[in-house]
Amino acid sequence: MKRVVSGIRSTGKLHLGNYFGALKNFVTMQHDEECFFFIADYHSLTTHPDPKALHTNVKNILSEYLAAGIDPNVATVYIQSDVPQVTELSLLLSMHAYIGELERTASFKDKVRKNPENVNAGLLTYPVLMAADILLHRADYVPVGKDQEQHLELTRRFARRFNQIYGVEYFPESVPYNFGKALVKIPGLDGNGKMGKSEGNGIYLSDPDDVIRKKVMKAVTDSGPTEPNSPMSEPIANIFTIMDAVSAADTIEYFKSKYASCEIRYGDLKKQLAEDIIKAVAPVREKIEDIKSNDKYLHEVTMEGAERARKSADQTLKDVREIMGIYHF
Ligand code: TYM
Repeated sequence: MKRVVSGIRSTGKLHLGNYFGALKNFVTMQHDEECFFFIADYHSLTTHPDPKALHTNVKNILSEYLAAGIDPNVATVYIQSDVPQVTELSLLLSMHAYIGELERTASFKDKVRKNPENVNAGLLTYPVLMAADILLHRADYVPVGKDQEQHLELTRRFARRFNQIYGVEYFPESVPYNFGKALVKIPGLDGNGKMGKSEGNGIYLSDPDDVIRKKVMKAVTDSGPTEPNSPMSEPIANIFTIMDAVSAADTIEYFKSKYASCEIRYGDLKKQLAEDIIKAVAPVREKIEDIKSNDKYLHEVTMEGAERARKSADQTLKDVREIMGIYHF
């Protein structure tokens, strides 16, 4: 059995990108592999959330994990800060992580550009903490979306460096995983870029049907194909990318052929997309509120998950300390 680790930051609610890029795959993998899924609340602190909002966000995401079908009896579900061992591993790994390589990370550069007033040290060492999350359970596979690829590359680099410096074969090569297919990037419907919490273009798992319809009907399009088989503009290609995640193959084929023959009506395309998104997420949404209102259940799940995750973390830290020469009398 392979070890699988992944997490989602606790900033807001989950959108289609989180679901189709990561969460849906977690759910599928849990029955075949040894899985650890956590809520990355330490990571979300880089943007200084209001303490009350942070707690609410953790609860939302935990409820959404469970509503999406993560079974806490099969997978280990936990909150990152319930396993503070990860911070020790992050500290130890940071001794071999170089400022230059951290400064060159695309996500860091992006944050510096967008929020020059908040370039904190946690932002710089974000990929080290992420590597610690993954290596804490010595993960073979990490189900994530395309935007996390570079972080995974760094994780492997830190792992290799550790193994090489200490002459061990301890940490595995943790690879991003999507069942042998390319990693997913769900775009926004605003014409360019990915769907994201900070992009303000999210379609959320908890959105009611009419909100989903409204968001989809507002999707940016173009003035339509004028010649048969002309290439698609980015906004139209984005609509088809989301269709790939939610619609049946013959539906996609139908609209692609209408596009190719210049007969497509974008209104019909959007209507179909909205209904297919609703079909895909409504079963999850319907369970979220029930789960969220059951504090006792959420408490039990996180206590049990934390205990299992700590056990795995304790073993790794015991080994890593010994490898690095940290042991006492
Ligand atoms: P986060 O919280 O931004 O996103 C969580 C997961 O959702 C995926 N995702 C997407 N996939 C496809 N299309 C999109 N538009 C899209 N938006 C988000 C992300 O790729 C991710 O898989 N650094 C991580 C959290 C993290 C983590 C970890 C992940 C912390 N430690 C260890 C894996 C392993 C993050 O910010 O993800």
